[in-house]
Amino acid sequence: MKFLALTCLLGLMACGSREVKGGLSQNEAFPATFTSIRDRIILPKCASCHEEMMSYKELTSKYVVAGQPAESEFYTEVEGDGMPLYSDKLLDEEKLAIKTWIEKGAPLD
Ligand code: HEC
Repeated sequence: MKFLALTCLLGLMACGSREVKGGLSQNEAFPATFTSIRDRIILPKCASCHEEMMSYKELTSKYVVAGQPAESEFYTEVEGDGMPLYSDKLLDEEKLAIKTWIEKGAPLD
């Protein structure tokens, strides 16, 4: 039992938060990169209705203003829980990954 508790504690520490530029706390388990956002958010939660968002070029030219999450529909729609339509809204860590990625300038990984 003690061993189990220790393992859980270590697990929590390993998955803990880390400070990134700008004072944002980013979850290491969810890197703010295009690939992880595409594979873990867009593919399962958006692509059924917005197939074009799977393309880096389409996403960044139409829905993202690099460096400015508040001006990026890709972020403002999910931040305000307007999207995804008809299904569970995004988790805080998913919203944070999108916001951080846009703040970094929305690079292609
Ligand atoms: C069930 C279908 C559906 C899903 C899933 C969905 N959307 Fe949408 N989305 C729509 C429709 C329909 C509109 C246009 C009407 C509206 O704004 O309500 C829209 C509009 C948008 C817009 C505004 C720009 C535009 O093209 O009109 C953005 C940005 C957006 N969605 C992002 C997302 C993101 C990001 C996800 C995944 C997290 C997502 N959507 C999931 C159906 C969907």
